[in-house]
Formats: sequence, structure tokens, C-alpha cells
Amino acid sequence: MPKGFNVLFVSSEVYPYSKTGGLADISNSLPQALNSIGNEVRILTPKYGQLDERRLQIHEIKRMKDLSIEFNKKKHKFSIKSSFIHGKNTKAQIYLLENNDFFKNKGIYQNIRTKKDFPNNDERYMFFCKTVLDVLEVLHWKPDIIHCNDWQTGLIPAYIKTLYKDHPLISDIKTIFTIHNLAYQGNFAKSSFNKTGLPSEAFSDETGMLNGKFSFLKAGLAYADKISTVSEKYALEIRTDKNYSCGMEKLLTKRKNDLVGILNGIDYNVWNPNFDKLIPYRYTNQEIPLKYENKRELLNKYKFEYSEDIPLIGMITRLVDQKGFDLIVESFDELMNENIQMIILGAGEEKYQKFLLKMKKKYPKKLIVHIGYDEELAHMIEAGSDIFLMPSKYEPCGLNQMYSLMYGTVPVVRNTGGLSDTVNDYKKKDGNGFLFENYDSKDMMKAIKLALKIYLTDKNKWYDLIRNGMSHDFSWKASAKKYTALYKNIVASRK
Ligand code: ADP
Ligand code: GLC
Repeated sequence: MPKGFNVLFVSSEVYPYSKTGGLADISNSLPQALNSIGNEVRILTPKYGQLDERRLQIHEIKRMKDLSIEFNKKKHKFSIKSSFIHGKNTKAQIYLLENNDFFKNKGIYQNIRTKKDFPNNDERYMFFCKTVLDVLEVLHWKPDIIHCNDWQTGLIPAYIKTLYKDHPLISDIKTIFTIHNLAYQGNFAKSSFNKTGLPSEAFSDETGMLNGKFSFLKAGLAYADKISTVSEKYALEIRTDKNYSCGMEKLLTKRKNDLVGILNGIDYNVWNPNFDKLIPYRYTNQEIPLKYENKRELLNKYKFEYSEDIPLIGMITRLVDQKGFDLIVESFDELMNENIQMIILGAGEEKYQKFLLKMKKKYPKKLIVHIGYDEELAHMIEAGSDIFLMPSKYEPCGLNQMYSLMYGTVPVVRNTGGLSDTVNDYKKKDGNGFLFENYDSKDMMKAIKLALKIYLTDKNKWYDLIRNGMSHDFSWKASAKKYTALYKNIVASRK
């Protein structure tokens, strides 16, 4: 195997240590995929207060215990702990940053108890970014590249290019910034910038300033050597369409030649109906009837009637605007008028939680709602549903439509971002799902009704859609190669 690159992969969420969405899945599976083709990727993430060291097999590293760093004119103690993530034949080392001032409380971005954002999220992730660099002095392992992900890591490239620009160990480390979601920007009051210790040039219109606020994301995009995002379509959308660019159009146009879209893969060790330990009946694309046994079990769990003639629509999602909830709210009664059953698993905005609970009361025989986060149920819904609904307003990549395709659950999605890059229209030879164009509830309902009609009247076609989805290659193979090529390109630019 050719010698690859040393990469420090920095992320605020890594499954199974912490997760609010797809970033956690990617931060687990991409490093392993990159390692399996000859790179040495190690992960660094905060050790949040809720992490159970024993269950997650997190260990002390003696020489990295009780270190200290100066941040915002104060000394802060921290330790780096170690753990490993494993696949069947792959693994990756993960370092966890432990610190009592910023990461002791339970919760990732929000306090688990109050369900409110931590008021000091700016300081928490400033401290994180700064410490990532200081850790390198004691790690005895030097990355060629630091791979940053989302706004929480946005200051790392800015620090390297300014405060550390003459640092003997750090100055020649290159950075990639991957956008998983351009709408989450880490924008804070100007006063927050003063705590970073960055020089004033980092707070200009060209760098970290966005509408007078200090933006971690913008700083990352301005200073990173390369920028990537998680699908080709989204890369194009954020650069060319104001509805997607979230105020970053000028900067992204300027950085056009440094911006690429690389589609996420999925982790077949976790999401594969043939090996999934969280579903009662495992199946391949040759054993589709077993899928219906999972449907029966899922409905049984909620004491719902099972019938082959009643299609089950599933959703697993953060309950936020991005995921198309205003369309769902608008058309809910019309949807419930159809002869369907529906199961929704989600957590998020209060208004959507309330709405769903209200609908559950209104349609007790048709609708199952589970508010909260439930890994096992997520697998059951993928295996047991007939149709997966994902009407996103925008979708950088989206993992659930890919999981659905793998599980033979036909997706109905909006034609945007990664949904466009993974779902093929049912009319095509390699069709695997249904797409609608406009962000409009009528269009969404039309696509759903079409899917229902084909499900009920054309079983052969439906099985073709299922098989096409299940036989598609969503592994990391191709994308891991693309990231490695990007690393190669960026390291070659080093003087
Ligand atoms: P996003 O990252 O925007 O939320 P993705 O489709 O990329 O969307 O990834 C979502 C991930 O989070 C998937 O692994 C999905 O199964 C998981 N997920 C989302 N909400 C829940 C929930 N309430 N319970 C369990 N898993 C969830
Ligand atoms: C973000 C995006 C989602 C993407 C995930 C992983 O949370 O919203 O589309 O799949 O990151 O890249």
C-alpha cells in the first residue's frame, strides 16, 4: 500500500462518543476508510461531560495528563485521553480533550438539562481550536494536514496562518475545511473575537466578519488551504445560489478553485441489513420478503395493524426547518387522508415536537411519533418502512436517504444537494426513488401520492426500485480516494 498522509481529523461530534446528526457518523467512518487505504488518520474531539469512560473504553495517556494552556488571559488545565474506534478490518485512534472549565457539563452544544445552547459556546470552541494546536507540541506525532469539520473547528486554519505562522512545528501544517452544513456558522458578537487572541486582520470583511458578527465558519473558509463539502450538488448550490450560500457567496466565489464536493459514504459495518444486529430479520436484496417481517415487528411494537396493502412511511430526523417540516405541517391532514401508516422519530425544535404530538392524538391509528433520540429504533424504521420521506429545504449530503436505499426503503426526497446526487428518479432504468423539484407542499404531496400508487399497483416496478437501491455502492471506497487525492494535492503545495 502506498504511504499515505498523516491527518489529524478534528470534529465536535464522533459516533459513538457524541452525536446530534450525520457529522458524528462521518467522523467515525471516514477516518477508518482513509486508514484502510494507507493514510494515518487520528481523530481529536472534546470529551463532553456525559461520556462514560468505562463503556467507551477511554484511557489516560500519562504524558498528556494535567497539561496547561493559556487562553483568554487565563491558564486552563486539560488532559488528552485515548480510545479507538473499530470496524471489521479498520480502526482509528481517537483523542479526547478533557477540560473542566469548558467541557465538564453534560451536553454537546446544549445543556442536556436546560435544553438551551451553552452561553459560552464561543469560548468552548475557541479553547478547543487553540488546544488542538498546542497539543501537537506534546503529541510526538505530526500531521501533514489538519482536517477541520464545521464551524466548531473554523479557527484552526486562522490560528495556523496568523499566530502560528512562524511556529517551527506548526507553520507548515496544511488545512482542509469540510462544510457539513453552511447554515450553522458559529456567529458571535464582535466582543467575542477579542477573546481569540487572533490579530485584527482575522476580523475583516474578507476573513471572519459576517454582517458585523464574528463568524467561526467564515474564518475557516477564509483561511483553510482547501475547502470541501459533502456532495457535488451542494458544492455548486452554495457557490451559485443565494438561497443556499448563507451570506458566503462572495467568499465562496473567490475560493471557487479551492472548493470541491465529495459525496459522503456510509459505514457498512453499522448500516447494512444483511448484518444489522439491531433488526430482528436480516436480509439481502434476494430476501426482500424478510423486510416485511421487520415491518410486522415494528408495527407490532406499537400495537398497529400490519397489512401489505397499507404502505408505511418512515422519517428519522432532527426536527428543524432544514428538514422540510413546514411542508409536512402544511400537508399533514392531506397526507393522513391517504391509506397509509406513518412513523416519525425525531428530536429538535419545540414547535415541531408539539405539532407531532398533537397529530399523534388526532390520528392514533395511523401515526406513530417517537420524540427523542433512539439508535435502535432508527435501524428498525429503516428496515421496516416501505417509504422514507426526506423533503429537505437544503441537504448538504444526507445519510438517511442512503441508509434507506441500502435497506430497500424507497426514498421520496426533494431534488437538492446530496439527495439529488444519490436518489435517481423512478422513471430511469437505475431509478431508486422519487424526487420533487420545488420547495412546495403540493409538489411534495404529488411525489408521495405517485410513490403510493406505484407501491399499490405495480409490485414489479416497486421491487425494481428496491433492488436498484440495495445494489448501489454507497461505500467510502471512491470518496476516500478523492480525499486522499485532495490531501496529496495540498501537501504538494507545501514549500
Ligand atoms: P443531519 O446530519 O443533517 O441531521 P443526516 O441524514 O446526514 O442529517 O444524518 C442524520 C443522522 O442522525 C443519521 O445517522 C440518523 O439516523 C441520525 N438521527 C437523526 N435523528 C435521530 C433520532 N431522533 N434518533 C436516532 N437517530 C437519529
Ligand atoms: C450535516 C448535513 C447533512 C450531512 C451531514 C454529514 O449535518 O445536514 O446533510 O449528511 O452533515 O456530512
